[in-house]
Amino acid sequence: MGELKGADIISVRDLKKKNILQILELADALEPYARGEKQTDTLNGKVLANLFFEASTRTRLSFGTAFLRLGGAVETTVGVAFSSLAKGETLEDTIRVIDDYADIIVLRHPELGSAARAANVANKPVINGGDGPGEHPSQSLLDLYTIKKERGKIEETTVAFVGDLKHGRTVHSLTELLTNFEGITLVLASPPELQLPKDLLHRLEKTGLPVIVTDNLEEATKLADVMYVTRIQEERFEDPTEAAKYIGEFVVDMDLLEHAKPDITILHPLPRHGDLSENVDNHPGAAYFRQAYNGIPVRMALFVLLFGLESNFL
Ligand code: NCD
Repeated sequence: MGELKGADIISVRDLKKKNILQILELADALEPYARGEKQTDTLNGKVLANLFFEASTRTRLSFGTAFLRLGGAVETTVGVAFSSLAKGETLEDTIRVIDDYADIIVLRHPELGSAARAANVANKPVINGGDGPGEHPSQSLLDLYTIKKERGKIEETTVAFVGDLKHGRTVHSLTELLTNFEGITLVLASPPELQLPKDLLHRLEKTGLPVIVTDNLEEATKLADVMYVTRIQEERFEDPTEAAKYIGEFVVDMDLLEHAKPDITILHPLPRHGDLSENVDNHPGAAYFRQAYNGIPVRMALFVLLFGLESNFL
């Protein structure tokens, strides 16, 4: 029986290195199924509750497609307005009920810690699809898978994170996930006010891996093997005019990339919004649309492991 069977995936800190490697290996084995070249009914009879109480395109649809590609069925709720949360129901009550309707729950919710609260009352596995400014573990797993696929390895890589590192949950999860690998250098490039939360920065520094904090985008670009560009998370600012000040300040475009290593890989969790120029799309290292596709095999791998069915594929 697999170690992840029945587990909740709330934070990347729930994952040991061997779990991470198993997810990557299984995602690789699932590629023909992810592309629809091979069929499987592994999850026949299983129901996914895909609960999105915050905006999403990729995460919601790729979790849904991943489940369908494995032969399961998907129930989706989108937005607070169409759920009983709009009638004042607590998240806990909503989850208690849905726990009996489905075999597994994916939850995106605007509050920090919401996924952990859901997991506390659910008997079924809960996957955190983004808890406000907290974490987004499945995104960081697909980011890691993309680095491996694009560059052949994860180790000995300098990863430069660019943009709103304070609120960017994908950054929070990926920086911490990378500490499991040897020879990683983290470069954190942002306006000083949008740097990583202090507690996370301290945890990263305590692991002993080199962490370079800068507000100089050109410097970060020169160092990067992988550049992870992010959007200013406008919806997390108390005052939206405050967010507007930063949009357009840190822009990755072809002029900037003249300073980059020739084999740089450019990632972005998407959506982009004034932070990554479309003129980068033809750069050979522009991997963000391939990255978005990789959500399918990686989320399939998570489902297979949480149901303990990996021996069907490995
Ligand atoms: C990210 C998110 O929701 O945190 N999007 C995603 O899941 N691919 C990034 C973002 O919204 O900027």
